[in-house]
Amino acid sequence: MKNILIIGATGQIGSELTMRLRKEYPQGTVVAGYIKGAEPKGELLESGPAEEVDITNTDQIAGAIDKYKIDTIYNLAALLSAVAEARPQLAWKIGVGGLFNCLEISREKGCALFTPSSIGSFGTDTPKYNTPQDTLQRPSTIYGVTKVTGEMLSDYYARRFGVDTRSVRFPGLISYVAPPGGGTTDYAVDIYYSAVKGETFECPLEPGTFMDMMYMPDALRAAIEIMEADPSKLIHRNSFNIASMSFDPQILYNKIKEYVPDFKMTYKLDPLRQAIADSWPDKLDDTCAREEWGWKPEYDLDAMTRDMLEHLRKKLLAPATT
Ligand code: SER
Repeated sequence: MKNILIIGATGQIGSELTMRLRKEYPQGTVVAGYIKGAEPKGELLESGPAEEVDITNTDQIAGAIDKYKIDTIYNLAALLSAVAEARPQLAWKIGVGGLFNCLEISREKGCALFTPSSIGSFGTDTPKYNTPQDTLQRPSTIYGVTKVTGEMLSDYYARRFGVDTRSVRFPGLISYVAPPGGGTTDYAVDIYYSAVKGETFECPLEPGTFMDMMYMPDALRAAIEIMEADPSKLIHRNSFNIASMSFDPQILYNKIKEYVPDFKMTYKLDPLRQAIADSWPDKLDDTCAREEWGWKPEYDLDAMTRDMLEHLRKKLLAPATT
C-alpha cells in the first residue's frame, strides 16, 4: 500500500499528479500538501486529505508523515526559471533548503523521495542536440543551480544513507488544467489559450528557439513509473533525461494553425526568457530512461495539440450556467 505526501499539491504539476495518484492507489492515502494562500479547492479538496505543509517547515513535513504513515514523498515545491531570477534567495531556500528538509526526513522515517529536475539543469556548455544523460551541467540560472544541486544531493543521500531518491529532468510541461507561472517554457501553454480565445499571440521567444516539451499526461506517468521502477535495473537515479517532442515557436504556431486557420502570432521578445532558453538544450537524449525503466512517451505534437484545443474549448468557451 502506498501512502503518499505531495508537497506543492496545488501547483502546476501537483494539482494533476495528486488526482492521478489517488486513482492509481485507491487503497492508499494521497495527501495534498499546500501552503497558506494556495489551499486546494473543488475535486482536489474533496477527493482526499489535505494538510498545510510548507517545505521550509520541517515540523509540518514530519507531522504529515507521522499522521498519515507516509512512505513516499513527491517534492514539487519550486519557483520556475524566470520568477526565480527575480527572487534567487527564495529559489535557493525552497529548491535546496526545502529538498534538504525532505531528504533528512526521508532518511529518518524511511520514505522514498521524488524531486523533479529539469532541462534547466543544463547550461550553454552542454551539448545542445541529443544532450546525453551524463554530460556537462553548468547552468547560468539560479533555477538550474538549484536543480543540479538537488540532483547531486539526492544521489548523495541514496549512496550515503540508502534513501530511495529518484527523479526525472522534465521538459517544458503543457497542460490545459493548472497554468504554469514564471517559467521560460510557459509560452507553449499560453499560445493555446490565445488560439482558443481568438486572440493574437505575442510570442516572447524568437523563431528558432528549440526546447524539449511534454504533454502533462506523459509527465505524470513518468513521475509514477520512475517511482515504481525495479531498483535493481536503475544505473542512474537523479535525474533521468526524458523527452517526447522538441519544437520552436514557429513549428508550434504552424501546428495550431492547422486546426485554427485564422490564428495569428507576432513576436515580442522577452530578453530574460530568451537568454534562459538560449542556455538550455534543443533536444535531450532519453535512451537511459528508456533502457533502465522502460520510459516511452505517448503524445507527439499533433496528438497534444488536438487534445489541448478540445479541452480548452470546453474550458474557455462552454456556455455559462446560471
Ligand atoms: N518549465 C520550466 C521553466 O520554464 C523548466 O523546467 O522554468
